[in-house]
Amino acid sequence: MNQDDKKRAAAEAALNYIVPGEVLGVGTGSTVNYFIDRLADLRDKVPAAVSSSEASTERLKAAGIPVVDLNQVDGISIYVDGADEVTRNGHMIKGGGGALTREKIVAAASEAFICIADDSKLVDVLGAFPLPIEVIPMARSLVARRVVAMGGQPTYRQGFVTDNGNHILDCAGLDLTDAASVEAEINQWPGVVTVGLFTTPGAALTLIANSADVERRTNK
Ligand code: 5RP
Repeated sequence: MNQDDKKRAAAEAALNYIVPGEVLGVGTGSTVNYFIDRLADLRDKVPAAVSSSEASTERLKAAGIPVVDLNQVDGISIYVDGADEVTRNGHMIKGGGGALTREKIVAAASEAFICIADDSKLVDVLGAFPLPIEVIPMARSLVARRVVAMGGQPTYRQGFVTDNGNHILDCAGLDLTDAASVEAEINQWPGVVTVGLFTTPGAALTLIANSADVERRTNK
């Protein structure tokens, strides 16, 4: 099974968790795209979705799923999204696709985050994947200097503007052994919109596809 097959398998496993009649939260990325494409056959079960990016919004509409503004809904039962790295207890690095801020917002509005991924994303400790931080453009250098002071090496994602009109710093070399503390620390720096650590909370359920099957793990 190649990586795309595994992404598809993880995405299909998540279809079992859709709550019929309830608004669905939908993430961003190539793994989630497999999930969105399968929603075309489930239009009777999914009245609407809240999307985490312009790209997913377009794809959801193409699948025939109405996309609603988060402000129009009281709550979301499940949020399905991928990750760039995920630990066995559901802590994640996200934002490789640059959608981290809306992903965190939709995840926060949802009762349960279901993380779908192939097994190349599974890690013991986060941090081999450079940590994305979305920043207000005028604060880019300020935040970059703070990342350096923390021991990291920030790289400005050249030519990329988020759906919110902001910039991304991809930060290598950070010690993320205590990822929750790093998330809390970076979150409160002036100019930071969102740090791509998702630990508090992380994923309630991880669906990780390997060559043989999809490993399901529930996290407290
Ligand atoms: C986008 C994300 C994605 O979930 C993450 O980058 C994984 O993407 P893919 O499924 O394409 O590997 O956080 O901001």
